[in-house]
Amino acid sequence: MSTIVSFKDVSLNFGGVKALNNVSFDIKEGSLHAIIGPNGAGKTSIFNCISGIYKPTSGHVEFKGENIGSLRPDEIANKGVARTFQNIELFENMTVLDNILIGAHRHIDYGSISGILFGPSVREKEIEARKIAEDIIDFLEIEEYRFSYILSLPYGIQKRVELARALAMKPEIILLDEPAAGMNNEETEDIARFILDIHEELKITTVLVDHDMNMVMDIAEDVIVMDFGQKLFDGIPKDAIHDKQVIEAYLGVSTDK
Ligand SMILES: Nc1ncnc2c1ncn2[C@@H]1O[C@H](COP(=O)(O)OP(=O)(O)OP(=O)(O)O)[C@@H](O)[C@H]1O
Ligand SMILES: [Mg+2]
Repeated sequence: MSTIVSFKDVSLNFGGVKALNNVSFDIKEGSLHAIIGPNGAGKTSIFNCISGIYKPTSGHVEFKGENIGSLRPDEIANKGVARTFQNIELFENMTVLDNILIGAHRHIDYGSISGILFGPSVREKEIEARKIAEDIIDFLEIEEYRFSYILSLPYGIQKRVELARALAMKPEIILLDEPAAGMNNEETEDIARFILDIHEELKITTVLVDHDMNMVMDIAEDVIVMDFGQKLFDGIPKDAIHDKQVIEAYLGVSTDK
């Protein structure tokens, strides 16, 4: 299996804070890889370095063997990297469908001239975008909310819409930052099922950040454990729970979210 994302000795400093300290790992194409660790461990920083929001202080990140250090976030997204955010980032005054169409449009290349002339091919592409959006709406079972405004929706559904927007980009890899945070047990089970479907049916490489081990242990194939910007562990989940450093990192860690 080839490597899709590779961290090579990545450090990320904010003043005196080492958000990431010499972190290296590979994410295999087609895998379902989890990243866990306590508050402030550096999990979101890893996603920010992959998606280009932050640039490493030293070391570099590769996407399919290419150093993506000089690319802007939108350029990295266009290569096939989609993400969701720890705090939902949707257009709150727009409908579910319109939010998802924004994701679908990113995937569709209009070409500048036809875009300006608004010829028939643009209309065809609008239809294509709508088809992509509708397929994902069915896939994530949010048909009944299609025309609802984001602000009016329960939190768990908003999280699902954010997932839908990311999927509408037809990504090669999807980065999910705490997709189950703030959810009750039933919503968490739903989201776990969708994550498995994304991985198994849509065959998208999936990286899942989570705070606690439960969901991760159930569904991930590989897990990286972070603590204070350091990688403590990288391997299969069942070995992580017996690892001395991992156990220490989790002792006394608050599980309230
Ligand atoms: N923009 C920033 N400016 C200053 N410090 C930052 C910034 N972003 C992250 N940090 C710091 O870097 C460290 C890692 O933060 P990060 O958000 O990656 O952790 P996390 O593992 O995602 O935590 P959480 O579980 O709370 O989401 C923390 O000490 C955090 O305060
Ligand atoms: Mg975080």
